[in-house]
Amino acid sequence: MKTLIKGGHIVTASDSYVADILIDEASVVLIGRDLEGIPLSTDKTIDASGKYVIPGGIDPHTHMDLPFGGTYSSDDFETGTRAAAVGGTTTIVDFAVQYHGQALNEALDVWFAKAEGKACIDYGFHMIVTDLPDRRLPELYELINQGVSSFKLFMAYPGVFLVDDGTIFKAMTAAGEKGGLICMHAENGVVIDVLVKRALAEGKTSPKYHALTRPTRAEAEGVHRAIAIAEMANSPVYIVHLSCHEALKEVQAARDRGLPAFAETCPQYLFLDYSYYEQEGFEGAKYVMTPPLRDKSNQEQLWKGLRGNDLQVISTDHCPFCFKEQKELGRDDFSKIPNGGPGVEHRMSLIYDGGVVQNRIGLNRFVELTSTAAAKIFGMFPRKGTIAVGSDADIVIFDPNREQTISAKTHHMRVDYSAYEGRKVRGVAETVLSRGNVIVENEIFKGKPGDGQFLKRGTFA
Ligand code: URP
Ligand code: ZN
Ligand code: ZN
Repeated sequence: MKTLIKGGHIVTASDSYVADILIDEASVVLIGRDLEGIPLSTDKTIDASGKYVIPGGIDPHTHMDLPFGGTYSSDDFETGTRAAAVGGTTTIVDFAVQYHGQALNEALDVWFAKAEGKACIDYGFHMIVTDLPDRRLPELYELINQGVSSFKLFMAYPGVFLVDDGTIFKAMTAAGEKGGLICMHAENGVVIDVLVKRALAEGKTSPKYHALTRPTRAEAEGVHRAIAIAEMANSPVYIVHLSCHEALKEVQAARDRGLPAFAETCPQYLFLDYSYYEQEGFEGAKYVMTPPLRDKSNQEQLWKGLRGNDLQVISTDHCPFCFKEQKELGRDDFSKIPNGGPGVEHRMSLIYDGGVVQNRIGLNRFVELTSTAAAKIFGMFPRKGTIAVGSDADIVIFDPNREQTISAKTHHMRVDYSAYEGRKVRGVAETVLSRGNVIVENEIFKGKPGDGQFLKRGTFA
């Protein structure tokens, strides 16, 4: 099957030009001007004139079908990846979880079973490590060989996910030696736990206390400690879901010293803020996520960090729970509200609208933040994250002028609310190709569950 994408404005992290793209089966094979004039025997032609043609989005932080707080995130690999595709994301990297006493490869098998036959787009896995005695280090090396080359460690959630500093140091040393990358949930969870217990004892049970018991200082301290341990372990570190200026300053200071410290932020920290917790009744539960939404003043600092490359990636931390049945678990106790929110579907449009249209970032940087940087950091480049001869034909034809109004009534995510209900955004993924197959046509999903393949990732370069 040969497909020609004709006359689009191709934008990568570095280039911007009008040309045609020839796709043969799953890969880009030729890029040039007026390819239609050459006898190519194409099967399908897509007219992209007046549109941007960009690499498929990569969301390196999702939680499909994640057991959390006595329930499961409401999107599974089928519904979540379908929604991602409609929004212009063609690759996710999701988090498998190792529980105490479990071998890492056993944990991975559980997540393979969740994704196989269901995922509509390509997917990789990070592994959340909770139990790493020395005898398990070979299991970690084996995962890196199998293409699961990044690991998430938690400084938060004592008794569930938290690992101590010694384990973090050992994991960073081991991963660093073999080209693995540690992703850090950086928050001082031990202090937060005391604050949570105190608040509940004082009868402070409503959703806003989730935010009030997780101060920015707790995040900044976690980021500082994560980077310090990584420096001692001589390894890189990637801070996930960075939410505030105080934490960003720690990353900036480390990078100014030349350390390989990387960080992502998410749309919710760029567009939503603490005031969302102060809505009437239990509404604030929709925004209970960790780290919590911060004071609005943090947002422009995060944009500055994105512009200056102290933040390299925008992921979603997509981890939806239905308001009616799941967030409800914490109606009388904010600490029982499942943590997380929906986001995988609208990341590309939100960032285009809030970033490019609002003149905060340029087009190349938009592509870099939503696709290329994640591909490079997580061992997928140049197969993913760019449009080049030999790359997978994961391509989005993006209409910069079309508007959409985000709403739970029309979204594809399996969750009963939208964090951005009623928000108008400019920029829509009109057509989406995944390894050469058209999986979204004129905003309508045309793909199939099971079309997505496991992505064996390389090591951290
Ligand atoms: O609230 C969040 N972020 N839920 C998902 C788990 C995590 O820490 O990323
Ligand atoms: Zn986390
Ligand atoms: Zn997460």
